[in-house]
Amino acid sequence: MTVYGSFPGARPRRLRTTPAMRRMVAETRLHPADLILPAFVREGISEPVAISAMPGVYQHTLDTLRKAAAEAVDAGVSGIMLFGVPADENKDAAGTAGTDPDGILQVALRAVREEVGDDLVVMSDLCLDEFTDHGHCGVLDAQGRVDNDATLERYAEMAQVQADAGAHVVGPSGMMDGQVGLIRDALDGIGREDVSILAYTAKYSSAFYGPFREAVGSSLQGDRKTYQQDPANSRESLRELALDLAEGADMVMVKPAGPYLDILAKVAEGVDVPVAAYQISGEYAMVEAAAEKGWIERDRAITETLTGIKRAGAQMILTYWAVEAARMLR
Ligand code: PBG
Repeated sequence: MTVYGSFPGARPRRLRTTPAMRRMVAETRLHPADLILPAFVREGISEPVAISAMPGVYQHTLDTLRKAAAEAVDAGVSGIMLFGVPADENKDAAGTAGTDPDGILQVALRAVREEVGDDLVVMSDLCLDEFTDHGHCGVLDAQGRVDNDATLERYAEMAQVQADAGAHVVGPSGMMDGQVGLIRDALDGIGREDVSILAYTAKYSSAFYGPFREAVGSSLQGDRKTYQQDPANSRESLRELALDLAEGADMVMVKPAGPYLDILAKVAEGVDVPVAAYQISGEYAMVEAAAEKGWIERDRAITETLTGIKRAGAQMILTYWAVEAARMLR
């Protein structure tokens, strides 16, 4: 093997001379099929509602969600991850709207499947936080703590109604212990061995979820530090990974992406299942805000963040720029 720089004529710059040369030797290539679009659908609105902290992203009506899904197919994006935003009066302590077959997320899943069939992998967020009036990802015990095992019961039912509504993939994002195994059993129990689980394996308690709270009209008071991971920890991710794989995760995810590329690289090295990363709302907002101020070049910054995430080991990237980036790549 060449030891770089070991002979006098070594000039790495020779491989950077022209765009064609750089393209030829590029180690990482983004492709539209790497990308998955997260999308929000809100109950009870007749026009899409702009999310102020995420310029260009909307809470969709069922109609505009269908259009967004069709556009994603046209752009060559692989998948769509749906988040439901119920009307305030439909939130309660148990997050009942999340398991109601006529809840907004289930209605949206059916609409999107009707629109795109199998042309897009249709995924659903499997978590209670959008549906609970306290905003936590699970149900609470008498002391107000998130009750892990009682929450699992709710997730099992959610997985079943989401599968019935047409989800190809469910994405449990609540970081409850045992969630993947219980959901697998619940799906298999109704004969839905065909529905995959994209496990949010390493999900950190992050300040960068900020804009998402507006996007889903979150009711959360406090934080999620008793269930999401501490940003200080790395080894813990490998433990979460081992558990998710043992419980039957079909695909695993690291989230957020940009501030956790070291975790992503470690996870990617350790598995033989597809690895995803979620470039979250705050990562999107930072680039959009700096670009709006004229402080960075928007399109280059977008491409660079996505390239970095792929280079670190993500095969699939959830990004709010999915459709735009896919078009840029074409
Ligand atoms: C939980 C969930 C969150 C996000 C995706 N799923 C919020 C949270 O954990 O607080 C955040 C996504 C983003 O910020 O773009 N259902």
